[in-house]
Amino acid sequence: MLVKDDAITIGQLVRECPRRARVFEDLKIDYCCGGKLSLQEACQKRGLNVVTVWEQLESEDSMNRDGSEYIDSDAMSLTKLCDHIEQTHHAYLKAELPRLDQMTAKVAKVHGGEDPRLLQVRHSFEALRAELEPHMMKEEVILFPMIRKMEVHRDQNPDQPLPASHCGTIRNPIRQMLLEHDHAGDALHAIAELTDQYTAPDWACNTYRAMLDALQTLQLNMHQHVHKENNVLFIKAAELEEQLQIV
Ligand SMILES: [Fe+2]
Ligand SMILES: [Fe+2]
Repeated sequence: MLVKDDAITIGQLVRECPRRARVFEDLKIDYCCGGKLSLQEACQKRGLNVVTVWEQLESEDSMNRDGSEYIDSDAMSLTKLCDHIEQTHHAYLKAELPRLDQMTAKVAKVHGGEDPRLLQVRHSFEALRAELEPHMMKEEVILFPMIRKMEVHRDQNPDQPLPASHCGTIRNPIRQMLLEHDHAGDALHAIAELTDQYTAPDWACNTYRAMLDALQTLQLNMHQHVHKENNVLFIKAAELEEQLQIV
């Protein structure tokens, strides 16, 4: 619940709701070491209108936990679903993975001595990023174009069998993507365990809290993302290929 008191400190605002750290990052307001300043003081210092900043905080608070809006993926064409996944989930990961890279590195460096599990969080995050970045590239460059092409073929040449692609059946790249989703799921699971399901210790600073919030959002977003691919897109794409019969 956002109580609009201009005298509240930046640190307190982030403490109440760690996702607000995103707003302060965008505005270049230091919420960690500079968290003692009131919102009024911080806005004055940066020449910002405090009313506009309250509006931004309000809009951040009202987002879904995973930062996405609900969509009915089952009702979309496969082409639309590929577009949606790229424009929302892939775009989110491309923006968020570099941000989390900095946060996990900083928290591991500063607090890894007090809690060595933070070094393992960093290690698991690095493994996750190394898996996901080439994974998205393979979907965008190989698998999704194959899927879009199948729909075009179905709509334009419904009586012709589908020409074989260089990958053979679409089930081959799908099998590889499923395997990589499992690896990403394992890394996310390890991070959740290592952080006691994203619970901050009493002594955690605001960067640590913002990292936990971002990691939890990452897990929620990945659940949605992988669900749309594994349970909707990939199944329907394999079925469509079967209907079209490859020659
Ligand atoms: Fe994806
Ligand atoms: Fe994927």
